[in-house]
Amino acid sequence: MSKYRVYLTRTYDFCATHRLYNPAFSDAKNCEVFRECNNVNGHGHNYTLEVTVCGVPDAETGMIVDIWDLDGVVKDRLIQHVDHKNMNLDVAFLKDQIPTAEVMVKAFWNELDKPVADLKAAKLYRLRLLETKNNFAEYRGEN
Ligand code: NI
Repeated sequence: MSKYRVYLTRTYDFCATHRLYNPAFSDAKNCEVFRECNNVNGHGHNYTLEVTVCGVPDAETGMIVDIWDLDGVVKDRLIQHVDHKNMNLDVAFLKDQIPTAEVMVKAFWNELDKPVADLKAAKLYRLRLLETKNNFAEYRGEN
């Protein structure tokens, strides 16, 4: 059986609230920079996270990762910490960060990279965080 690399993507949905502001800015500057996303009491999104792993299909199972194991890692390490949470207040790994999709997707990578690598042959390849139907942020690691 020839060896070839495959990319597998699994999606996860969660709901969360956030407020975009920089505490170093004045109120006026926060309004100017972040516009309606600076609403003092926050606003919500129905997020979708696409988790893409890569690996070589196992000769006996045809799988690069046990998808139930992947679900377990993503839910345990990430989704349960962000679903129905306030990204500014409730999430330790986002503390003191401005929770844009760009910042969130990198922070999510930090949470998932090692535990996914521990799943047999699979390696985290890409995270894509969809914030609305019109925008998403993507991170593929430094290399
Ligand atoms: Ni927002």
